[in-house]
Amino acid sequence: MNKVATYRIYLTRSLPSLSYSVCLMEKLHLLALLLPILLGLPLLYIWDILWMRPERLRKKLRKQGVRGPRPTLFYGNTQEMKRIRQEAVSAQKQDTSNYISTLFPHFLIWRETYGSVFHYSTGAVEILFVSDPGMVKDMSHCTSSELGKPIYIQKSRKPLFGEGILVSNGDIWAYQRKVIAPEFFMEKIKVMIELIGEASVPLLEAWESMLDDAGGSREIDVDGYLRNFSADVIARACFGSDFTTGEEIFYKLRQLQKAISQQDTLVGLSAVWKCLPTKANREIQKLEQEVRLLILDVAKEHSRGSSSRNNDDDNDCIETKHNSFLRSIVNSSRHCPASYGGSAEDYIVDNCKNIYFAGHETAAVTTTWCLMLLATHPSWQDRARAEALEVCRGCTKLDVDVLRRLKTVRKHPSRYASISVEETGSPSA
Ligand code: HEM
Repeated sequence: MNKVATYRIYLTRSLPSLSYSVCLMEKLHLLALLLPILLGLPLLYIWDILWMRPERLRKKLRKQGVRGPRPTLFYGNTQEMKRIRQEAVSAQKQDTSNYISTLFPHFLIWRETYGSVFHYSTGAVEILFVSDPGMVKDMSHCTSSELGKPIYIQKSRKPLFGEGILVSNGDIWAYQRKVIAPEFFMEKIKVMIELIGEASVPLLEAWESMLDDAGGSREIDVDGYLRNFSADVIARACFGSDFTTGEEIFYKLRQLQKAISQQDTLVGLSAVWKCLPTKANREIQKLEQEVRLLILDVAKEHSRGSSSRNNDDDNDCIETKHNSFLRSIVNSSRHCPASYGGSAEDYIVDNCKNIYFAGHETAAVTTTWCLMLLATHPSWQDRARAEALEVCRGCTKLDVDVLRRLKTVRKHPSRYASISVEETGSPSA
């Protein structure tokens, strides 16, 4: 009786533990089978992003006869670019009259080797370089909507541009373009010329006083001054505010741009990386939020101004003339296309950020470059000065007709074009 009882007790106790160990064995077996798949799938995905996708694009280009330097995994051709640039510096091959040979000597070498159209890789992006004059001309006739904006820019620069006009495609781009383009029609630009003249006065006065203090001649680092000047003009012309109000926005946008560009080396993995709570990502999110609040403040200020003006039509201040861009953006935010991913506030923030960025950086860099060229070529300076004195003689103020007659300093058409090549759609300039 005792034995049977003990046996029963043994059986009832050991049965569950036996079935448990069989079950555990099965699970371990399954895990051993799944483990290579679980580890392998992400590795395959990473391999596809890093090598297979770019290689598929390169293959398509090779089939069309477009060749290029052989890229390496992770770095593309960036290591080779650094090496060529280093060699050009040490061999003192730099030619100050040709910025391409100074900044991009690798383009010249690759053009000699692979012809006027070739492809290369930055690791993250496949680029098609075009220096065939006919092709560059054809490309310059294409509109943004025909070429499409690069998807990698949309993704990697999202905190900077959101879904604004500079990076959007399709109906979102068309809608924003319809709203923004009239703000830069000639009639509006004519009004801005006076404002640009006014904004240039403090800049010129600052330079003149520096020269006076130095006895007539000194070196001036113009970059910072021209950035502020350009920011002042955009803040006044598009937002009806002055540089002080826009200063913080411009500063934070620049910080945001720097923080984002530091992640450019992350190849195709930036999408994964930016979800991680790294210090850099937290900084980007913080700056994005701060810029957002500052822009919404400017927009709210404008709305308050508009409603008080509606109550008092005689209150005609500078804002009524120079913030029609902001007004158009605020008004159009209520009817943006359904495909637009964000709210009306997102739309306002995205488009204001795009204009702060598009107008500020481009104009500042172009003017700095222009002054640098004039400084290195005194004979051009003499020609430009003589022409300005001739054209402006007797003028009380600068207007569009006077400016049209200034021909020495002109924008030259580009001789080169780079297109990022992407797998999903058409190439994007
Ligand atoms: C010298 C100064 C400037 C240069 C070199 C420049 C250059 C460019 C280039 C190359 C594009 C791309 C065109 C395309 O995708 O088809 C562009 C687009 C644009 N720029 Fe400028 N830009 C300058 C000044 C400005 C200013 C002052 C503003 C406004 C305040 C501005 C607003 C825009 C906008 C809104 C777009 C997007 C157009 C679209 O996608 O439809 N730009 N700019």
